[in-house]
Amino acid sequence: MTARTVLGAARTRPVTLVVCRGCCCGNPRKHPGHDHQWQLDRLRAAAAESGGRIAVRTTDCLGPCDRANVIVVQPSCEGRRRGGRATWIGFAMGDAADDDILRWAADGGPGIAEPLPALALQFIPPPRAARTRARGQGRGRARR
Ligand code: FES
Repeated sequence: MTARTVLGAARTRPVTLVVCRGCCCGNPRKHPGHDHQWQLDRLRAAAAESGGRIAVRTTDCLGPCDRANVIVVQPSCEGRRRGGRATWIGFAMGDAADDDILRWAADGGPGIAEPLPALALQFIPPPRAARTRARGQGRGRARR
């Protein structure tokens, strides 16, 4: 793969929902009463129907377990170019939260569209390690 290929892929990167599925997020023993698999299935179905505008991936523990479920909304390439940055959402459980996240992503996500006010109330600060990585990326020092 050439650097040119990587740049081409990055140019078309969609809004990406990074869904934490670590020790606490998505764990029915820690958060009973929520259908965590339904949440993931729903987000993935919306991504599949988005025509490539939304992607979903899961990750191991992101850090702020006391705010599970955590979802990070990463901007599209265009959103990042316009100043959008990864946005961390806590307590993302229930259809209302999923609706708001999907609506924001479908509207363009960070850097392009404004989130609904109710969703903005769920924004949480990223852990220190994530902030440090983001600053490094902003200076063009990201690892390959
Ligand atoms: S398991 Fe999601 S933040 Fe730790």
